Amino acid sequence: MAWVVPSILAANFGTLEREIRRVEEAGARALHLDVMDGHFVPNISFGVPVIESVRKLTDLILDVHLMVSNAEDSFQWYIDAGADYLSFHYEAVSHLDRLVSAVAEQGVRPGVVLNPHTPIGVLEEILPKCHHVLLMSVNPGFGGQRFIPASLEKTRKLRRMIQSQHVDVRIEMDGGLGPDNTRDVVEAGVDLLVTGSSIFSSSDPRGTLQEMQGIANSVGVG
Ligand code: DX5
Ligand code: ZN
Repeated sequence: MAWVVPSILAANFGTLEREIRRVEEAGARALHLDVMDGHFVPNISFGVPVIESVRKLTDLILDVHLMVSNAEDSFQWYIDAGADYLSFHYEAVSHLDRLVSAVAEQGVRPGVVLNPHTPIGVLEEILPKCHHVLLMSVNPGFGGQRFIPASLEKTRKLRRMIQSQHVDVRIEMDGGLGPDNTRDVVEAGVDLLVTGSSIFSSSDPRGTLQEMQGIANSVGVG
């Protein structure tokens, strides 16, 4: 079953605990944490101290998305801070196989992220070592951007690659997701729908999350 995964990038950091409780009560299983370094992407978000604080607040799965240039040097910080899933951009890492293996050895679930322009063919060899692949459906750096429609065909291609390799890899999508396109992305094969502004900028975050999760649950049923 596909999960809707709230991204706290769009949350109010002044009342973060309350925001987290709201999505917990709405049934979220995981939280998405966007780390931006102002170098790999043109924005700075938050880092280790915030992840450590969130870890102390919740037992939800922490899904950490690194948008940083130095992931090979810094990945251990995020594991020590409490990440359960840890995702690296293909575009930012030279020795991806080494990095993914080092993360998995510690019992943390590694994932590879592709920017919208990066073809899925680059995943051919690394795929069996991934717990998930995160397809960016916007150019990374900011919340609240518009969904790039070509992400649907990219998802279908990745789904075919996963099937042809007989591997168990989840497909995650990040950027521009909301109630209007939930059905399309789940039908295309997305398992983890990262959603920031649609949930946290909504007047009813709990209701929006439940609406999206309800749509996701209904795909393939009946
Ligand atoms: C964008 C981030 C996303 C962001 C999504 O670079 O990786 O996780 O929070 O935000 P929305 O859902 O607003 O597009
Ligand atoms: Zn993200």
